[in-house]
Amino acid sequence: MTHSVDPIMLSIPERLETDRLLIRAPLWGDGAVINEAILESLEELRPWMPFARTAPTQEESEKHIRLARLEFLKHSELHMNIFNKLTGEFIGCSGLHRIDWDIRSFEIGYWIRTSCSGKGYITEAVNGITDFAIRELEANRIEIRCNAKNVKSAAVAERAGFKLEGIFRNNRRAESGELGDTKVYAKVRGIEYE
Ligand SMILES: CC(C)(COP(=O)(O)OP(=O)(O)OC[C@H]1O[C@@H](n2cnc3c(N)ncnc32)[C@H](O)[C@@H]1OP(=O)(O)O)[C@@H](O)C(=O)NCCC(=O)NCCS
Repeated sequence: MTHSVDPIMLSIPERLETDRLLIRAPLWGDGAVINEAILESLEELRPWMPFARTAPTQEESEKHIRLARLEFLKHSELHMNIFNKLTGEFIGCSGLHRIDWDIRSFEIGYWIRTSCSGKGYITEAVNGITDFAIRELEANRIEIRCNAKNVKSAAVAERAGFKLEGIFRNNRRAESGELGDTKVYAKVRGIEYE
């Protein structure tokens, strides 16, 4: 028996709020602030994020964000941009990826602009997006995957209460070309939440 629905028919809110953050679907025009944040953060992003291999132009960032909006509207990937609720400053990107609508399984990804790191914003965003996935999307499984060497990313998963399920060995190539391991964290319905 399949539980799948046609995802295009789902009603999915385009925004959520946490104590300090506004987290919303990408909008036409977000490219400029995202480009500024990527350029500021290239050194920290480069070891982990393929898009930071070379500095993007503003036009490339705008094109990327427009495609991300279209994917959100199709409900194939729920990209989300994170802003400071009070100041409106762009903080970073997150979202729900690798969606399986039959299982209702989602993976949370994230990166932060360097000037906003170390303040708990990403942990707050992950907690907010996890609640959103449970409440609005009836998630049965929410994953966080990271390079086993990415200590800061694993710390986010652990701070947000995700359980380490295992380590997949030699299943990724880091940006350096080096083979590496993947840590798989998850929260599942019936165990980490009802
Ligand atoms: C992974 C990444 C998003 C983590 O960012 P971060 O700023 O360390 O994470 P948070 O925003 O949750 O902040 C946590 C830090 O703020 C501190 N902090 C301050 N106030 C806090 C609060 N209210 N709540 C939680 N933590 C708080 C924590 O102690 C922690 O500091 P520490 O790293 O010195 O221990 C960032 O390193 C990054 O973008 N890396 C490059 C891209 C990447 O690797 N993405 C993940 C791919 S899987």
